[in-house]
Amino acid sequence: MDMSAKRHLVLVLVLSCLWGALSMPDPKHREDLMKTEASMQTGGRMVLSEKEQQLSSRLLQMKSEEVMRVDFPPSMHFFRARDLIKESPIFSLLQKVPKGAALHLHDFSMTSVEWLVKNSIRFFFSSQIPKPLPQCSPWVLLEKLRALTVNVTALDDSIMKNLTIFTDLDPDVAYPSQDVLWNRFEEAFRAVSGLVTYAPVFRDYYYQGLQELYADNVMYLELRAMLSEVYELDGSTHDMIWTLKTYQEVTRQFTADHPEFFGARVIYTIHRGVNSTVMAQVVQKAMQLKKTFPDLVAGFDLVGREDPGRPLWYFRNELSLPSDKGLQLPFFFHAGETNLEGSEVDQNLLDALLFNTTRIGHGFALLRHPVAKELSRKNGVALEICPISNQVTKLVDDLRNHPGAVLMAEDHPLVISSDDPAMFGSSGLSYDFYEAFVGFGGLRSNLGTLKALAINSIRYSSLSTQQQDKALAMWQKRWNKFIIENT
Ligand SMILES: *[C@@H]1O[C@H](CO)[C@@H](O)[C@H](O)[C@H]1NC(C)=O
Ligand SMILES: *[C@@H]1O[C@H](CO)[C@@H](O)[C@H](O)[C@H]1NC(C)=O
Ligand SMILES: *[C@@H]1O[C@H](CO)[C@@H](O)[C@H](O)[C@H]1NC(C)=O
Ligand SMILES: *[C@@H]1O[C@H](CO)[C@@H](O)[C@H](O)[C@H]1NC(C)=O
Ligand SMILES: [Zn+2]
Repeated sequence: MDMSAKRHLVLVLVLSCLWGALSMPDPKHREDLMKTEASMQTGGRMVLSEKEQQLSSRLLQMKSEEVMRVDFPPSMHFFRARDLIKESPIFSLLQKVPKGAALHLHDFSMTSVEWLVKNSIRFFFSSQIPKPLPQCSPWVLLEKLRALTVNVTALDDSIMKNLTIFTDLDPDVAYPSQDVLWNRFEEAFRAVSGLVTYAPVFRDYYYQGLQELYADNVMYLELRAMLSEVYELDGSTHDMIWTLKTYQEVTRQFTADHPEFFGARVIYTIHRGVNSTVMAQVVQKAMQLKKTFPDLVAGFDLVGREDPGRPLWYFRNELSLPSDKGLQLPFFFHAGETNLEGSEVDQNLLDALLFNTTRIGHGFALLRHPVAKELSRKNGVALEICPISNQVTKLVDDLRNHPGAVLMAEDHPLVISSDDPAMFGSSGLSYDFYEAFVGFGGLRSNLGTLKALAINSIRYSSLSTQQQDKALAMWQKRWNKFIIENT
């Protein structure tokens, strides 16, 4: 190489060096932006004590190990992931977290069916053989069926399978479409309701449901309840006032037995399949119930699959009755539990907000509605996000892709709940917390996120500010104990 070639080479090297330095983004600026973004997430501005920071680091370490797994549970269908989650160390820790309140849970899927089947064998459900139902086989006494059965465990299993939609088969084969899934879902609901609406079972079922929440470190419940007729052996029935009073009594009993449990309230619900005449009667009934039981009844909601059902706007006259009459009836509408963008039902989110809903059940479609999203944020109308439910009903496959990822990244008002845990083979809130925290929370959500989610669940509850303060003080005590016991 002669000298001039060498000089040329040096010049090129120096030039490219300078060029790199000039255009490289400023690392300090980069760090500031990253910090800003991290502070925007749910719990991002939570100040953590030294001990809390220790536990948070441990959680993050556990999470990074979980993410490395080939069979990463949030990426799989919950029916396949459940046993993996059960064994995960991060799940055991999440079970211990004081999670605050369960704000989206339905009456006949709050308690495990195993309890239901094992504990209902003591009861007869009718003093006489009931009239046969059309298109059904004749009634058989369970006692007789058991005596005739070689393998009673297998019989119990097959009964339990009728009461949930959980399956050991490939879920996509068992439920190839949303239609198939929802049909089986509503069938299972009808099967359960025949068992649960028998008066002695009804009480025990609800008590046991509270027990399961309590064992999962949940301290308060807002239960969506149809207030169905409850029957006795002789065929006589109780009306919804009896049902409400029973919820009240059992809740009082449970809180007396467990002073660390704060209580429960009821959101009265009706199936959205009813017509306007029935809806008008039901809304009047709801106003009456709210007036008679102001501390027990939180408000009103419609249930059942949104897609084939009537949109909220269809019932605009009936839903306006409370404000027309100047009576208080807070709404807690399911809305946006759909991926049919642009359909009439897809307007439910905006309509729920226009009817001043207190919270939104699911809100899965919210990202597609910037105006509704802004209103929900501005007015502090929280979403009740139920990750496992959304996956099981086929709105999303891989839970890392759940819209909650975006909403949690920007601290949108939200809480995590479980919708119908018994139907999905889940229980309490911990499985859904796992999916939210490990799945769509990503590696950045930390102990501050969990803390914020628990506080949200109390602040976005229907409790008065005073009651919320009391519940929060109770929660804080449990939280402090949790931190001490786990660091
Ligand atoms: C009875 O059924 C259960 C559940 O299906 C099965 O695990 C068990 O092996 C069966 N027992 C006998 C004796 O067949
Ligand atoms: C429901 O129970 C019946 C009778 O035990 C059984 O034959 C059937 O397979 C069960 N259905 C489901 C979906 O498991
Ligand atoms: C509304 O539904 C009720 C109950 O199913 C029924 O009795 C009534 O006839 C229906 N009314 C109209 C106008 O369709
Ligand atoms: C919703 O709230 C606004 C503001 O308080 C009020 O003007 C409006 O009448 C309410 N709408 C309904 C349907 O209750
Ligand atoms: Zn629901």
